[in-house]
Amino acid sequence: MRTHLCGAIGEHLIGREVTLCGWVDAVRHLGGLCFLDLRDHEGVVQVVLEPETPPYALASQLRAEDCIRVRGTVRARFKANEKLRTGRVELLAESVDLLNRARDLPFALHENPGEEVRLRYRWLDLRRPPMQNMLRRRARLIAAFRRWLEARGFIEIETPILTKATPEGARDFLVPARLHPGCFYALPQSPQLFKQILMIAGFDRYYQVARCFRDEALRADRQLEFTQLDLEFAWVDEGEVQDTVEAMVREVLAEVAGIELPNPFPRLSYDEAMRRFGSDKPDLRLDLELCELTDIFRGSGFRVFAEWAERPEGRIAALCLPQGASLSRKQLDELSAEAAKHGLKGLSWLRVEDPARGREGLSSPLLKHVHDPELEALLRRTGASAGDLLLIGAGPDPLCSQAMGALRLRAGHWLGRFRDGWRPLWVTDFPMFEFDAEERRWVAMHHPFTAPRCQDEAELVHNPANMRSRAYDLVLNGHEIGGGSIRIHRPEMQQAVFSVLGIEPEEAQAKFGFLLEALKHGAPPHGGIALGLDRIAALVCGTDSIRDVIAFPKTTTAQCLMTGAPSPVTELQWQELHIRPAEKARS
Ligand code: AMO
Repeated sequence: MRTHLCGAIGEHLIGREVTLCGWVDAVRHLGGLCFLDLRDHEGVVQVVLEPETPPYALASQLRAEDCIRVRGTVRARFKANEKLRTGRVELLAESVDLLNRARDLPFALHENPGEEVRLRYRWLDLRRPPMQNMLRRRARLIAAFRRWLEARGFIEIETPILTKATPEGARDFLVPARLHPGCFYALPQSPQLFKQILMIAGFDRYYQVARCFRDEALRADRQLEFTQLDLEFAWVDEGEVQDTVEAMVREVLAEVAGIELPNPFPRLSYDEAMRRFGSDKPDLRLDLELCELTDIFRGSGFRVFAEWAERPEGRIAALCLPQGASLSRKQLDELSAEAAKHGLKGLSWLRVEDPARGREGLSSPLLKHVHDPELEALLRRTGASAGDLLLIGAGPDPLCSQAMGALRLRAGHWLGRFRDGWRPLWVTDFPMFEFDAEERRWVAMHHPFTAPRCQDEAELVHNPANMRSRAYDLVLNGHEIGGGSIRIHRPEMQQAVFSVLGIEPEEAQAKFGFLLEALKHGAPPHGGIALGLDRIAALVCGTDSIRDVIAFPKTTTAQCLMTGAPSPVTELQWQELHIRPAEKARS
């Protein structure tokens, strides 16, 4: 139907006859002429309809988003438009076919009608050049990752979508098995167990662009279904996995987006990340750090602080905000509310007017409670100077650290302390388990197949609270873009982890019997990682929401506004699946 793409028309084609197809981007009538901007996925070119030529008959009918074919001759433009790639030329139309009209558009493509309308009419939204660019960049990113891995001996293997539950901490999506009444498949939360089995099967280096399904609360960086670049390596330790993944990310992001990442990426232990930044995914573009005050307040006369300082899980931490004294009362209230949202009851502040004047040069509700030696130690430790504001939080950890970490981000934005650029890091040595206070049991912080950092099962079972794992996260500009670990490769250790998690041997057998058996048949040491492709694509495209880099995402209410999924099914379908709708769903 066409000889060229709109965006590819240039001076090299002057004098040539071409045929283009595309959408009418805009129509202008000027000095008796009709100018069309014709758009396809490659770009926009100007088309001129001259009076008394056959195509001019259509001039008054054409509307934005009509779908047309134009034959004509390329000529130099009278006045070049340097902003447009094709801006030095135009097409003098000899014939125009109206292939299809665009009727009753719900919004003009040059406007942003809000996300609900965009998702409902996704075909129009995706037609817009910024959306086209983002999805094309995502595709280039995935292609570049594939090329990188293929060149290094990784093999892509597909794993099942209809499978058995793999615990990654979210709820499963279940699919009723028609042929097995009362039984369900689970959609994979990740290919975790299959990739481990592939290592046991001798594939050595695996990867997959894998769709994962997790029934969890949605946010800007979370979808019900999302895509991982999933990797697994046999015969490795964590350093080898990290070095390889880091080289891949560095090279691919440079190739696809011209992003320069440091070499090597810094590595921080979980404990250090929490202590210094109050987060296990610290944004290193921000030059603020938490400051430890716990020891200063041990034995203090100020009871609230002294109590936290003496409790084993207690922490007192300060955040020194340079020139933060300029923050308004309202902003301080917002910071207190943010701390409360994270469960931190009391947030104190201290404004430094003139540190040389000691107590006289400070203003804070704390002054009446805290003695001079403590104040001096606090000022010395935080290095606060005139005009600074100290925020001080006291409470149980990790809550206290997390709350202070959230304040670091919020106040950092207000004070304009984020630097430009790309700051990746590895966070390592996560706790093996977290205690779920509601369910009163240990849960795996990464997943139950992650190797603990200990010699034998006895050590693990003896001290789960302090056990570290061989897990690592990859963080970029405050976003967790990947997570992985060295896996357990001996069945005895896997059983021991299950037992700490309160999974009885029969339950372990029923759920993971195949894994336990495979581990018995000469499983090699192995480990891997999964990168969140949607999150990486969003970062590379400079958008805050992964919905922008997913062609057909779900809303935060877990719906597809275009198709109307999820939707009710017929009575017959219920029957075939041997299940019955709950009363509420039926009404
Ligand atoms: P994990 O659960 O950490 O690890 O997931 C790996 C990465 O996937 C991305 N991610 C998500 N992206 C969008 N929406 C979601 N709901 C979502 N959940 C996770 C994140 C995350 O870092 N099997 C392990 C990997 C391994 O151990 O090799 C796993 O799935 O960027």
